[in-house]
Amino acid sequence: MVKRRGLGPIQDEVDQLRATAAGAVRAAAESFFADYSKNADPLRLAAWFVPRCWREIEYVFMLNEEIRRYGLGFDRKHITALSKHSFQEAQHYEMVGRIIECLGGEVPVTVPESARAWSELLWDCLDRHRLSAIAAWNISETAAGGSFDATLAASERYQDQMPEAFRIYKQIVKDEDFHLGLGQLLLDRYVETDNDREEVLRAMQEMLDLVAYTYKPENVVAGG
Ligand SMILES: [Fe+2]
Ligand SMILES: [Fe+2]
Repeated sequence: MVKRRGLGPIQDEVDQLRATAAGAVRAAAESFFADYSKNADPLRLAAWFVPRCWREIEYVFMLNEEIRRYGLGFDRKHITALSKHSFQEAQHYEMVGRIIECLGGEVPVTVPESARAWSELLWDCLDRHRLSAIAAWNISETAAGGSFDATLAASERYQDQMPEAFRIYKQIVKDEDFHLGLGQLLLDRYVETDNDREEVLRAMQEMLDLVAYTYKPENVVAGG
């Protein structure tokens, strides 16, 4: 029997992609909040949360589509885990939505311009291979993790503008640990061939290019 090698041969490369994604988004978030401190207009902060909020609800759609298309090819316990992931993203949409409303902004109900390329890439990944979307959102979620320290610090600093944000982001940080672990576990469990590994790396690299080089603080505009 051929020994299953999972992510093994590409694990270092995957870890490198994750570190680069988190680092780039950390720098962008720090830069945004440094700039925000000069003019703390809550509508600008609301605009910063809008694409983040949208990604929460679109993860729900995409996770459910992943389950619908490919779920029966996975172990039953992994369908349950993906469903839990989906449920938590729905909670994040609700919670981040509350922060936006509190700041005087509007909760997105359609894809904002600033999240369109991200959305298109993920739906494309869903069509390509059963693990592509999991690989791509694993990089996106890793990248988002890079913004959490700055977001938590800002939640304390601007508590008067968004009193619930600190508690909400503490919960999100905890849930994201589960999502990142699940992504790594599923990829490692179901990657079998060199082609699978290529598809995983391709999806991750494309998501890295997107999150690292296109999410710039200067792209945050009210209503964006
Ligand atoms: Fe989330
Ligand atoms: Fe997540």
